[in-house]
Amino acid sequence: MSKKKMTAMDFRKYKQEGKIFTMVTAYDYTTASIVDESDVETILVGDSLGMTMLGYNSTVGVTMEDMIHHIRPVVKGAPNTFVVGDMPFGSYNESIPQAVHEANRMVKETNCDAIKLEGGVEFAPVVKAIIQAGIPVIGHIGLTPQTATSLGGFRVQGGTPESAKQLIADAKALAETGVLAIVVECVPTVVGKAISEAVDVPIIGIGAGNGTDAQVLVFHDMMGMYGDFKPKMVKQYCNLRPMIVDGLNQYRTECMDRTFPGTEHSYGAKFESIDKLY
Ligand code: KIV
Repeated sequence: MSKKKMTAMDFRKYKQEGKIFTMVTAYDYTTASIVDESDVETILVGDSLGMTMLGYNSTVGVTMEDMIHHIRPVVKGAPNTFVVGDMPFGSYNESIPQAVHEANRMVKETNCDAIKLEGGVEFAPVVKAIIQAGIPVIGHIGLTPQTATSLGGFRVQGGTPESAKQLIADAKALAETGVLAIVVECVPTVVGKAISEAVDVPIIGIGAGNGTDAQVLVFHDMMGMYGDFKPKMVKQYCNLRPMIVDGLNQYRTECMDRTFPGTEHSYGAKFESIDKLY
């Protein structure tokens, strides 16, 4: 039996009921259909596709066209899973009209269920305008990869009482706009828990400890497919990369010694040879 799709209404309800949910990334039809078959409730088509799909070394170069190209097949592949599209860098930081225009475009052209964007207090007016335009929004604070350079690189955030308080202020400002949930990335466990306790919307943690209301992981990291680096916050639930390499090498060996394709993967004919057909 297929699972019941989570709706925008469920986010705050889950929080009130203390119900944990999960999110993973997906960037293509087949992966989305696998996630849809699982019990995972939500998919993020993250701009992390810049690294996992496009081979960039950051998310900064990802465009709205890239995002739309990847969100469409995910929506198609996961009809029973809540799909969130990530707003790429440069698509919401010029002005409120630009942000609303680009968010409209993402939803209209992909039919995703919500959008996500990075930023705290300073982006609350932008988030509010998008929500007022009728688009559900998920916030993202803590380590925000699009602006990681100005945060001092890919490092733990909220490591001092002052910065932790700022993150709580960011979360409160976003919660007041009416966001569905907030992703909190790479903060100490105590800070992840404190942020979760401070707001009435679910906190979706990634590298934020086990005290948050939900968790998110990048599919290619958790399945052991992405080979360039492995952050501490990632748990590998499968190690597919060496299995895939083994499969490829076995395929090549069998091609070399002509054991592939065998009769079970070949088509027969009603004649033995084609000599007489010439
Ligand atoms: O782009 C992404 O995959 C993300 C997650 C790391 C939360 O933003």
